[in-house]
Amino acid sequence: MRELTVNLGERSYPVLVGPGARHGLRSVVPSRSTRAAIVTQPGVGVDVDSGAEQHTFVIDDGEKAKSMSTVEELCSGFAEFGLTRADIVVGVGGGVVTDVAGFAAAVYHRGVAVAHVATTLLAQVDAAIGGKAGVNLPEGKNLVGAFWQPVGVICDTEVLSSLPPREYRSGLGEMAKYAFLGVPGLAEMELEDAVASCVECKARTVAGDERETGTGGRALLNYGHTLGHALETTGNYDLRHGEAVAVGLVFAARLARQLGRIGDERVAEHYRVVSGYDLPSSLPRGADFATLLAAMGRDKKVTGGGLTFVLDGPAGLEVVQGVPAEAVLATLAELQ
Ligand SMILES: NC(=O)c1ccc[n+]([C@@H]2O[C@H](COP(=O)([O-])OP(=O)(O)OC[C@H]3O[C@@H](n4cnc5c(N)ncnc54)[C@H](O)[C@@H]3O)[C@@H](O)[C@H]2O)c1
Repeated sequence: MRELTVNLGERSYPVLVGPGARHGLRSVVPSRSTRAAIVTQPGVGVDVDSGAEQHTFVIDDGEKAKSMSTVEELCSGFAEFGLTRADIVVGVGGGVVTDVAGFAAAVYHRGVAVAHVATTLLAQVDAAIGGKAGVNLPEGKNLVGAFWQPVGVICDTEVLSSLPPREYRSGLGEMAKYAFLGVPGLAEMELEDAVASCVECKARTVAGDERETGTGGRALLNYGHTLGHALETTGNYDLRHGEAVAVGLVFAARLARQLGRIGDERVAEHYRVVSGYDLPSSLPRGADFATLLAAMGRDKKVTGGGLTFVLDGPAGLEVVQGVPAEAVLATLAELQ
């Protein structure tokens, strides 16, 4: 088992990676915590032992569970259970659970400790690390949230064996992103090494830019996500998050080439990585360009600079503002 660290001064925390890592949960629970509220979903099926008196709260499956009403129900449940400021919330699940449990922990009693046992590949390499927690509103995804760093994260690679194949592949979509964020040789690594390498990259990025303040650092973790989010939030494209990101990665590469920032070989590398993980690299049938363009214009990275993307270039990935709509539309047409 590996122990990595997210270095954030007094808010630093360990990330345990490897088969059986869930058995290390007790080591990250603060000794003052006498109660633990375990937040999970019906299909997760991962038992944990926090070492404290624990009660399990089961939330619904899917994006609809990432809501203010789930957080309200959880907080009421925590109060009935007698959870105090000294106690802990433990999220056991994928990104939906870690986002909701993290946000409930951030607001209950104005903030109680949270630890995550990440049980999807996507949560292990991305969602559970970095302290972004939140829920959706009818008006949009992740519109309400907080930065609330966990006291520890557990990435037990053993529990991934029960993941439905499509969920596993969705995690590979986020993994593919790291190949372009400077993690070499991912595709050839054993699972444990690959997860640890992604965690290391995310930890380093978060440590350098905890609150995503600049246009570098944490913003680069959105590589492939501008089109990815647009595909997820418009139409009914039946794409999991990582699948949408995979299409977004190839789109971003083609857009960078369209703008003369990279050459054909680098575009081909994006295709190789994405298809190597058996992920989609073209737009879903019937994709509506105008709707996608409008959704990309509303992306949260946009701060008045027009259409904004994380794009590859001679100096690696960077945030590029003011990308012409014609270039975006031409690239969408290439991807059909
Ligand atoms: N906070 C962040 O930094 C961040 C980053 C990326 C994504 N996210 C969020 O993560 C969410 C997506 O997360 P996800 O892809 O993990 O999906 P998910 O949480 O919906 O999990 C997918 C499905 O797998 C089930 N499951 C989980 N673990 C299992 C296991 N070991 N065996 C069998 N089934 C299991 C879940 O119950 C669920 O049905 C999105 O809401 C996204 O916004 C957050």
